[in-house]
Amino acid sequence: MPNIRLPSHVAFIMDGNGRWAKKRGLPRIYGHAEGVKSAERIIQTAKELGIKYLTFYAFSTENWKRPEEEVNFLMELLRWYLREKIPSFVEDDIRISFIGRRDRIPQETLKWMERAEKETARCGSLWVFVAVDYGGRDELVRAVNRIISEKKRKVDEKLIRRYLDLPLEVPDPDLLIRTAGEKRVSNFLLWYLSYTEFYFADVLWPDFGKEEFLKALQDFSKRVRKFGGLFPDEEENS
Ligand code: IPE
Ligand code: IPE
Ligand code: MG
Repeated sequence: MPNIRLPSHVAFIMDGNGRWAKKRGLPRIYGHAEGVKSAERIIQTAKELGIKYLTFYAFSTENWKRPEEEVNFLMELLRWYLREKIPSFVEDDIRISFIGRRDRIPQETLKWMERAEKETARCGSLWVFVAVDYGGRDELVRAVNRIISEKKRKVDEKLIRRYLDLPLEVPDPDLLIRTAGEKRVSNFLLWYLSYTEFYFADVLWPDFGKEEFLKALQDFSKRVRKFGGLFPDEEENS
């Protein structure tokens, strides 16, 4: 895409898998399986474009409320996916890391998450974060508890940031994309979204492809980000 200002970090709330399956008279889990292909397309496109960081919301701290079969399927799907894909991530120089809690994830899934992190640790063209058992509030609570346990007497924004899940070098998301027409944050990345641009697409996540992604990027590229300051032309005239 010529002359487009690209975000460096794009976050995704991949929503609408269940509805995608329901529309076809299929069980919800088919939608999740199909949703994996969308994530794949986005990763490939981001790599081609030179976007540096992606964060995908795969499972929230609230998603444990879903039926046990669906939860189990999602955990298994992640395990299958990682087991199959790690070599191609390494080949494509894509680094994979996870954010969220690790104390409630089934052992076999956790094993493959840790393996993916270890085996892709030296990859650097694109860094993909997957949020699993992640909640923005839970992340803050875990951070505060660690700060307390280290007996810090005073906190500031920089210190809190150091205790959050995303590595310090990762910039806040420039753009957050949510699919399936829902316009809410659902406990995603709360700390980091202070000045993130939001883009809502009506298409369901399994139908979200390269074209939709490019549309969101075009839209982002037209936005003027002020971070509490003034428009650039306002500054000149003031
Ligand atoms: C998003 O799709 C995937 C996860 C939350 C794991 P949903 O499963 O929320 O799909 P809908 O919103 O029910 O259509
Ligand atoms: C958000 O989607 C979580 C993920 C995409 C993993 P949900 O479908 O769980 O969110 P709500 O319940 O509609 O807010
Ligand atoms: Mg949903």
